[in-house]
Amino acid sequence: MRALVAYIEWLSRDGIKGKAYKGWGLVKLAALTGDSVAGKATYAAQCAACHGADGAGVPPVLPALWGPNSYNDGAGMNKQAKMAAFVIHNMPQNHPGTLTPQQACDVAAFIHSKPRPKFNQVYKSY
Ligand code: HEC
Repeated sequence: MRALVAYIEWLSRDGIKGKAYKGWGLVKLAALTGDSVAGKATYAAQCAACHGADGAGVPPVLPALWGPNSYNDGAGMNKQAKMAAFVIHNMPQNHPGTLTPQQACDVAAFIHSKPRPKFNQVYKSY
């Protein structure tokens, strides 16, 4: 563990400390209610080209957003508001910053209406 921490600190040696930098953190969005029907249309128009009409993406380059190869329901991304805050800042990857807050919430609601793996909380007994 000490070696890993030392390595990560070494990787960050020239990084910006103590303030935000490009790509860091999430956008603060107003609490909007996502409409998954509107989100379905946004997804088809702006996301499906990369993530697939079936949400399966092209792993590992284009991540699956739902289905067996997507993040599980224990992931931070499984929170609708967090996804909307990520999406509005970073997606569509070829045109980030083009969605409205409502569109980001709608598309997150649509993606969250889809199935995904369960977080495996069963640990080995020692
Ligand atoms: C030009 C291709 C492209 C388009 C279009 C695109 N994405 Fe992405 N998306 C990516 C890539 C590549 C990644 C992985 C790298 C990253 O997270 O920045 C990604 C990552 C994501 C993630 C994180 C997945 C995870 O497992 O953490 C989400 C959520 C997401 N995209 C949603 C969307 C939504 C919603 C749209 C449409 C509004 C969209 N993307 C459009 C390429 C794209």
